[in-house]
Amino acid sequence: MLKLTYHSHACFSLTNSTYHILFDPFITGNPLCEIQAADVNPTHILVTHGHGDHLGDAVDIAKRTGAVIIAPNELAIYCQFKGAKVHPMHIGGAYNFEFGKVKLTPAWHGSAVIDGENIIYTGNPCGFVVEMDNKQIYHAGDTGLFGDMKLIGEMFDLDCALLPIGDNFVMGPEDALIAAKMLQAKLNVPMHYNTFPVIEQDPNKFVDNLRKNSLKGKVLEPGESVDL
Ligand code: NI
Ligand code: MN
Repeated sequence: MLKLTYHSHACFSLTNSTYHILFDPFITGNPLCEIQAADVNPTHILVTHGHGDHLGDAVDIAKRTGAVIIAPNELAIYCQFKGAKVHPMHIGGAYNFEFGKVKLTPAWHGSAVIDGENIIYTGNPCGFVVEMDNKQIYHAGDTGLFGDMKLIGEMFDLDCALLPIGDNFVMGPEDALIAAKMLQAKLNVPMHYNTFPVIEQDPNKFVDNLRKNSLKGKVLEPGESVDL
């Protein structure tokens, strides 16, 4: 049984009896997150880009647990410099891991680590399509709406799409609805909202609008899981 758990913002766990795939572990300093970085034991950590609300605790968790960080090349190399075990990839590339297949998708955003007063650019941001236990899950990362989501929807028979709705830095709810229409996933889960005042949104309204368009959505509370 493949289980998806929301930890708020863009942080999710995808787990079966053997593997724990942790996405964008912004745990420390995240006011909504229900877990502690010291308690989480992933086997793999997927990081979409270098911003602090996505890279988060990834390096510390990777060093403590031995989990492999899977990320776009420049960000992966940055994490390796910091002492983590990594698997660099890049947009358009897929790789068969022991837990399943990962493909990197485009994301329209930035990617950098802010280190004091220095901005360290970490290449292009990405999204992920993870194929695991015969299920296909799309984590869009931080992105604006783009037309090639239609292509992602055609190339995969998505069981679940994790879509940002916070606006300001990423898609707002109206654009996320257009994204959902293009992706045609069996389930849409909103993310990247209400963590900070500037990204306050009503996720239930988003899900209602999905329903009006014959699409399924579910609002997950931090700590809540859904079986895929
Ligand atoms: Ni970002
Ligand atoms: Mn973000």
